[in-house]
Amino acid sequence: MTLIESARDMQGQAQAWRRAGRRIALVPTMGALHDGHLSLVRIARAEADITVVSLFVNPTQFGPAEDFAAYPRDSDGDRRLCEAAGVDALYHPAAAAMYAEDFSTWVNEESLSRDLCGASRPGHFRGVTTVVAKLFNAVGPDVAVFGQKDAQQALVIERMVRDLDYPVRVIVAPTVREADGLAMSSRNRRLSAEARQQAPALYRGLCRAREAFENGERRAAALEAVVAAELRAAGARLDYVTVVSRRTLRRGETVVAPALVAAAAFLGDVRLIDNLFLD
Ligand code: PAJ
Repeated sequence: MTLIESARDMQGQAQAWRRAGRRIALVPTMGALHDGHLSLVRIARAEADITVVSLFVNPTQFGPAEDFAAYPRDSDGDRRLCEAAGVDALYHPAAAAMYAEDFSTWVNEESLSRDLCGASRPGHFRGVTTVVAKLFNAVGPDVAVFGQKDAQQALVIERMVRDLDYPVRVIVAPTVREADGLAMSSRNRRLSAEARQQAPALYRGLCRAREAFENGERRAAALEAVVAAELRAAGARLDYVTVVSRRTLRRGETVVAPALVAAAAFLGDVRLIDNLFLD
């Protein structure tokens, strides 16, 4: 596995691969890798000749009061996992190399990124689209793999790819979960023992809402109340819960499939998100 630390080196290596007729898949990550990330790597390997994983804890997608400093970091462990998973190149740029001191050019998606996490985390998606655009420009992938766990992020990236004509095929992969249903997340490493016990309530609440939907409940507010009640019972603090169209992320009083029930909650001081399809 090659370790690459600058955009210029990444571009040079990618160009050589493309000249040799190799197709490149990119899996963008912020590291502290888990089986959810590794499931994306498996898809990438099946879809292209060369798999690149990027590892970069992107400061611009964290708000000033958020957990950038406390975000889990384990670059040695990540390197070993990538090597064992058959990754061809790990692109691991330094923050100073990614953002010049007078950096002033942003990619901003202005519709899908407004609500849900966009409302709770102002500026978050601007950071995500900008860094993903930079990663695409460094790697020039044919395919990029993202996770459904971050459903809004995946939609925003698909929109950016369409709107800015990136020649990249975006694949969105299913959410990988722990045995008790908790969606795998790098932030799970930060949960206290007590918060880890409470955390499955997020998935449980979403499952109960999906059951209610399957039993005929079509009022968005009633489905949202099911999730809120489950989280409250577990002692978690709800950030948001919403039932939205899977295509537009807009909420209507009456749910029309294909829809998504999405929630964010604080378990102690750790904010976790999850979502399920309503079909
Ligand atoms: P990160 O949270 O590290 O996630 C990297 C990728 O892994 C994302 O596409 C995410 O949706 C996916 N992922 C996370 N947990 C998953 C799970 N349990 N099952 C399946 N896939 C999962 O998302 C980011 O980083 C950043 O915003 C990034 C896109 C890298 C831009 O900085």
